[in-house]
Amino acid sequence: MSVEATAPGKAILFGEHSVVYRGPAIVIAIDRRAKITAKERDDEIIRFDCLDLGFEGYFEGDEYHPVAGEEWRGNRLQAMLVAARKTMEHLDKHSGLDLTVRSEIPIAAGLGSSAAICVATVAATGELLDGNLSLQEICDLAYEGEKVVHGTPSGVDNNISTYGGVLSYETGVGIERIDFQGGLPLVIGNSRRKRSTRRLVARVRLLRDRNPELVDGLIDSMGEVSRKGLEAIKARDYPMIGDLMNINHGLLSSVGVSIARLDILVHAARGAGAYGAKLTGAGGGGCMIAITDPDKLKEVSRAISHSRGEPHIVNISYEGVETRRLD
Ligand code: MEV
Repeated sequence: MSVEATAPGKAILFGEHSVVYRGPAIVIAIDRRAKITAKERDDEIIRFDCLDLGFEGYFEGDEYHPVAGEEWRGNRLQAMLVAARKTMEHLDKHSGLDLTVRSEIPIAAGLGSSAAICVATVAATGELLDGNLSLQEICDLAYEGEKVVHGTPSGVDNNISTYGGVLSYETGVGIERIDFQGGLPLVIGNSRRKRSTRRLVARVRLLRDRNPELVDGLIDSMGEVSRKGLEAIKARDYPMIGDLMNINHGLLSSVGVSIARLDILVHAARGAGAYGAKLTGAGGGGCMIAITDPDKLKEVSRAISHSRGEPHIVNISYEGVETRRLD
């Protein structure tokens, strides 16, 4: 028997970094998904097929054995390995697994690829072992995997990937599902620079340690922008969403997480008529996001492309994690 689970990536509209301390972050699930297929084995090996990314290998205990690709690739699998093992521990059911990983979400780009992969791994493993996991259990177990990649992430990524739709997420408080339907005219631009969320979160923390009052003031302002942003989203006030994205980008630049490539894409989108644009995710590379008049989606995409970014017109995905048995 095998099981397939899919989970969406995400884009943060407002509140990245500030959500590490409090938030809120306003986040949408996007129509790009990670897919995990899980199959039971009759030994204790956990095998990963990531051939789309050019590697395959298995863990015997904690030792990684590459089948295709380099040995260091084993490090990249730690989050999934932890997510699968924590799921089995939680259910007190143990099995070897064959896990096949396929994803439409760009990696290390701020679009929640690692969280989507962890969420889908937990859901697939849980279903395979008849675990009957609730959404909250899937979300919490995926967080255990996320911690391996990101250190102490806020939890926003695993929440949106589990639940889908539009969420406001406040650290220490939890999620509020936003009653919102339909789409928003958004274009994402990938700078094609990979980066590490863990390092960027650490960089902001260091800046805050050195300048606590100043940085706390900026974090509070980001929280205020998020709250106003949520009102603007509910009212579908695109020009106001754009203003607030521009302000949010300035605040994120001031805590040191933008880079020239992201600024170039943000300005290209604004220059092509977007109402506003900002980096999305941890920054340091990865992606920016712009809101525009629906008639200008193509123009803004073209401008991002001419500035050597990779544009994606994205829709909100209202489907969170989904699981199905294959045979
Ligand atoms: C990463 O998607 C968003 C950050 O706020 C980190 C986190 O929330 O854990 C930068």
